[in-house]
Amino acid sequence: MKLFPDNFLWGGAVAANQCEGAWETDGKKESICDHLTAGSLNKNRVFTSEIRKEERYPSHTAVDFYHHYKEDIALFAEMGFKVFRLSIAWSRIFPNGDDEIPNEEGLKFYDRVFDECHRYGIEPMVTLSHFEIPYHLVKAYKGFADRRVIGFFERYVRCVMERYKDKVKYWLTFNEINFATMPMGNLEVLGIINREDDEVANPLDDKNLRFQALHHVFLASAKAVAAAREINPEFKVGCMIAHITMYPLTSRPEDMLLLQELDHLINDFCADVQVKGSYPGYALRYLEENQIQLAVEPEDEAVLRNGCVDFYSFSYYMSNCVTTEEGHATTLGNLLGGVRNPYLKTTQWGWQIDPKGLRYTLNKIQDRYGIPIFIVENGLGAVDQPDDNGFICDDYRINYLRQHITEMESAINSHVNLMGYTVWSALDIVSSGTGEMKKRYGFIYVDKDDQGNGTMKRIRKKSFYWYKKVIETNGGDL
Ligand code: BG6
Repeated sequence: MKLFPDNFLWGGAVAANQCEGAWETDGKKESICDHLTAGSLNKNRVFTSEIRKEERYPSHTAVDFYHHYKEDIALFAEMGFKVFRLSIAWSRIFPNGDDEIPNEEGLKFYDRVFDECHRYGIEPMVTLSHFEIPYHLVKAYKGFADRRVIGFFERYVRCVMERYKDKVKYWLTFNEINFATMPMGNLEVLGIINREDDEVANPLDDKNLRFQALHHVFLASAKAVAAAREINPEFKVGCMIAHITMYPLTSRPEDMLLLQELDHLINDFCADVQVKGSYPGYALRYLEENQIQLAVEPEDEAVLRNGCVDFYSFSYYMSNCVTTEEGHATTLGNLLGGVRNPYLKTTQWGWQIDPKGLRYTLNKIQDRYGIPIFIVENGLGAVDQPDDNGFICDDYRINYLRQHITEMESAINSHVNLMGYTVWSALDIVSSGTGEMKKRYGFIYVDKDDQGNGTMKRIRKKSFYWYKKVIETNGGDL
C-alpha cells in the first residue's frame, strides 16, 4: 500500500484575527472581528458597533503572534512543518480598506513572517480574507453588499501578490465562503451589518442582500484568481469551503431529498461557482424560488468563468444528520448544527466526531471536481489541563487526528488527489465561534486564560511530539 506522496504538505493553520493581537499596532486599524466580544458555549459573541470599555474583545491581543512569530515559527519548524497556513489581516495593509496607498509597516510585518518561514523551508499558504474585512468598509459601504468593495479587495490582493510574489505560492481567497449561504448567514465573510443598533444577532435575514453580497464575493474571488495568473503563473489559488458533511437520519425518500437540497445549498453552491465558473442550475432555482433578484453586470459571467480556482480546499470538523421528521435530538457544529447521529460521539463543544465522514467527503469532492484537494482545517477543540509539571497529555487530540489521518490515507489509496493537510490549529489561538481561549486546538499550549491573564509562554504538548513523528515518517508512524 502506498502511504502519503513524497511531496505531501504536512502543516498547521491559523488566522490573523485569532492569533496576531496587536490590533492597532504599526498603522493597523480595526477589522470586523475586532468588534466581536468574548463569548462561550452558552453565551453568544456579540457584535458592538463601538468598542466598549467594559467588554473584552479577544482579537485585540489574541496570543500576540505579532510579537512572538519568530518563536512560534521555530516551534513549527521543530515539528517539521512543510507548510504553514495563515491569513493576512487586510486592515494591516489597507487600514480603512479604501485607502489609495498601502501601509508599509503592515507589509513589512508579513515580509518578516514569510522570511522566517523560508529560513526553515516552510511554505506559507495565505488566506486573503479570513473573516477580516476592514471595519471602515463595513460601516461606510455595508461590506460586500456594495459592488465598489470588489475593487478595494482587488487592489489589496494585487498589492500583496506583487509584494510577496517570490515568497508565497499558495493562496486561498475567502475562508469558509459558504457560510454566507446558510440560514443564519455570516457577518464576517460578507462584512454586512444591516441594523444600526448594537448587538446584532441575525443581521442577514434579508436574503436578497445576502446573496447579492455573495455574488460580489464570487467576483472578488475570481478577480483574485485572475490577478494571480498575471502576477506569477506559478501561483496556485484555492477556494475554501467549510464542508458540513450530512447524512439522512432515516431511509425515507423525503430525507434523501432534503439532504440533497441542503448539500447543494450549503456545501456545493459556492464550490461549483468557484471551481466551475458559473452558477449551477439548482442555485438558479433556489434564487428564483426565494424571489432573490441579483443585480448582475454584463461582464460578470466572463469574470466568473476566468476565475476558476486551481485546487479545492476545505475545513472538516464533524458531520450532522438531517431529517424531515420532527422531534429528534439536535447537535451543535461549526456554525451549523443538525440532527444528532446516534452512532457518533461528540466533543466537549457538542461537535460530532466522524473520521469516516472525512473519507466520504474526500471521495465526494474528488468525484465532483477532479482537481487537487487540500484539507486546510481539521482538529479537536478541547480543554487542556496542564499536569503538576505543566505538561499537557492530550491523547484525545492525538486520537482524533490519528483517526482522521488514517481515513486520508485510505482516500489517497483510492486515488484521491490530496495535496496536503494543515491541522487546526498550529498553536492555541482564540476560538472563532466562541471567542474563548479554553477551547484549544493547538500542538503548542499558550499560557493565557479567558480573562486575558497568563504569561503567553509557549509549551509543547504531547501531540507536538506525536505530530513531529508523523511528519518525519510521512504518515508511516501514526
Ligand atoms: C473554522 C474557522 O470555522 O473553524 C476557524 O475557519 C475556526 O477560524 C475553526 O477557528 C474552529 O472553530 P471554533 O469556533 O472552534 O474556533
